[in-house]
Amino acid sequence: MWNLPLWALKLTGRLFFSRSNLLLCDDNDIVIGGLVDRPPAEDWSDVLEEVARCLRTARMLGEAHDVFPSSFYRHRRGSFLAIPVGVSMGGGQTVCTHPAPPSNCLTDFLSAILRNNAMRRLAGFQSSAFAFLAPKMYRRYLADLGALFMHHNNLVWNFSNSIFPASSFNCGPESILLPHFDFNNWACGLCALTPVGNFDWRRGGHLVLHTLKIVMEFPPGTTAVIPSTAVKHSNVCIRPGEERMSVAQYAAGGLFRWVAYGFRTGKSLDSTRSGRAQHVRLDKAEGVRWNDGCSLFSTSASLASDYSTW
Ligand SMILES: *[C@@H]1O[C@H](CO)[C@@H](O)[C@H](O)[C@H]1NC(C)=O
Repeated sequence: MWNLPLWALKLTGRLFFSRSNLLLCDDNDIVIGGLVDRPPAEDWSDVLEEVARCLRTARMLGEAHDVFPSSFYRHRRGSFLAIPVGVSMGGGQTVCTHPAPPSNCLTDFLSAILRNNAMRRLAGFQSSAFAFLAPKMYRRYLADLGALFMHHNNLVWNFSNSIFPASSFNCGPESILLPHFDFNNWACGLCALTPVGNFDWRRGGHLVLHTLKIVMEFPPGTTAVIPSTAVKHSNVCIRPGEERMSVAQYAAGGLFRWVAYGFRTGKSLDSTRSGRAQHVRLDKAEGVRWNDGCSLFSTSASLASDYSTW
């Protein structure tokens, strides 16, 4: 399908609207993401309010007790408190869990956030939005990450109702993303992002997809699913006194490589002759892997039938 990385393609980024849901398609009609409105559940605004309260409380209590390491404030996405949690890949090396090093107090904070029922519902909804926009890719996540968690039985899914193994809780008070790529996410993969809080979404907080030359309104409670590694993205700032926080879920690319290499790093694969040969074979297939990854996207025409193969 694609012979070139997404960022090397000239994309005009067409938008398809259906009420407040939106498919983000490239020139070839490939659905590379989208925006999914909040579900119709009657209590969903309570859920969103509770998620906002949870993030706000975590920030205020955590800062009062000085539990957050400075790395939670120093990340390329901006200068706000971002709490990472879940299974990821540390520096492309081995499978690791956030946060490292563990501190008991911080662990208590994270458990409290993860056990929050509203947060759990939002996490599940983000995962469903991903399945809705990219059903074939969702199945691939299920297979590879399922194998990962089976192999390492010390790893746990933070949200039993979500396919994503890692989350970032962006606690604000103004979680405004600076233009960046998420290099940690799988190159072909998608990440889910939902803003919450109190801000006028007509005047700020817009999602900017620089690579696609798209700016779109991004109201609290809307879930964006975007190829965050391939597409440089950021937010428009909000007005003074407003509050914006967000929840993001993703899967680190290293996890898929770790599984492909037979639960090893490329480096450790190199320690035997047959391993080296295997590594070369796997890496030679880089272009093939890329195409393989990109074939996991649907087109707006194939979407309906892509669900039916479940
Ligand atoms: C969240 O997931 C990480 C990684 O598997 C794990 O170490 C941690 O215990 C989990 N926390 C909770 C509260 O489930």
